[in-house]
Amino acid sequence: MKEGLEDVVACQTTISRIALENGKAILEYRGYDIRDLARKACFEEVVYLLLYGELPKKYELQDFKIELAERRELPPQIIGLLTHLPPYTHPMVVLRTATSYLGSLDKKINVKTREETFNKAKDLIAKFPTIVAYYHRIRTGRNVIPPALEFSHAANFLYMLHGEEPSKTAERALDMDLILHAEHELNASTFAARIAASTLADIYACVVAATGTLMGPLHGGAAQEVMKMLREIASPRKADEYVRRKIEAGERIMGFGHRVYRGVIDPRAELLRYLARRLAAEGSTKWFEISEAIAKAAYKYKKLLPNVDFYSASVYANLGIPDDLFVNIFAMGRISGWTAHIIEQYENNRLIRPRAEYVGEKGKKFVPISKR
Ligand code: CMC
Repeated sequence: MKEGLEDVVACQTTISRIALENGKAILEYRGYDIRDLARKACFEEVVYLLLYGELPKKYELQDFKIELAERRELPPQIIGLLTHLPPYTHPMVVLRTATSYLGSLDKKINVKTREETFNKAKDLIAKFPTIVAYYHRIRTGRNVIPPALEFSHAANFLYMLHGEEPSKTAERALDMDLILHAEHELNASTFAARIAASTLADIYACVVAATGTLMGPLHGGAAQEVMKMLREIASPRKADEYVRRKIEAGERIMGFGHRVYRGVIDPRAELLRYLARRLAAEGSTKWFEISEAIAKAAYKYKKLLPNVDFYSASVYANLGIPDDLFVNIFAMGRISGWTAHIIEQYENNRLIRPRAEYVGEKGKKFVPISKR
């Protein structure tokens, strides 16, 4: 038995590959290096690749962008739900509740033809940013800003959130960030999605399972915890001492360590570091400088390397994204990987049902309630 299923292979996939080769980490989506995709593709192109298995041709990408844009708006019932949820509800709880409600509005919820499943997947990918931005506007007492068809997926989200057209740098930063978060093999939330899919549950149920799983601080919730740490440290000078004390106390430094990338840097962290530095150069350098000091100390005291969630925090802070939306941004990227995996599971399904090793007492004699 392997605690935490470490290194256990639980399914075959053609969606992404993580490997450690010659001391370097490889991450590929459908065979393409993440570094190339992050630098040369746009998020919609990567979503198409994940769902359909091939990079789109120019006209296919144009049609796909239009189709996603046309699916962005929310049904009035969902807007009603966002208005009625208490404003202290965490935006990830909102996202999974709204996803479940979208399922209740779908009269074809249990239709699992290829065409219908792709339609539902594209719908969820398109609507996730709208749910997040609308809820944020509503909870802060402002009017919602309807999606703009002419903007890219990334630009439209920033526009709906902030109410103004983002700069090209901000748009590209979020676009690249979504690509980096889009897919990561059998991480905990994707595994949750596949387990649900293996029972032939509807796609909304699978995405709710994944959304709930992503939220935890050991998974996507880590970026919000990183921001808490950056605020607490407040100055690069204080980072070394902070990290040393945490390590000595046996506590975790959020945004560091990874189940698969052991002893090698998460390639997504390298690209996010580049993004964080670029955004800092055009805005505030504060969060990036503290991040750099933490990374130096975490390596010095425990040879810890940053993961995808570490530099995401300073990227989001410099994009003006509130701390409790960080994990939602992760979900806006990862919904593409989740749905690709749900489709893959449906198309070659066998119920996922592992065994547990029983370590409790055995063969006990039943004692009637009056005698206990
Ligand atoms: N801070 C301090 N020590 C750490 C950390 C950390 N963040 N991560 C791992 N270690 C140490 C751990 O204490 C152990 O040391 P020792 O051998 O001395 O006991 C060693 O590294 C191996 O750790 P592990 O617990 O076996 O690692 P794991 O594979 O079970 O956990 C992890 C992986 C990501 C949950 C863990 O590294 C962690 O808690 N990191 C902080 C939370 C975080 O950043 N999560 C985001 C993960 S990546 C993206 C995502 O999935 O969202």
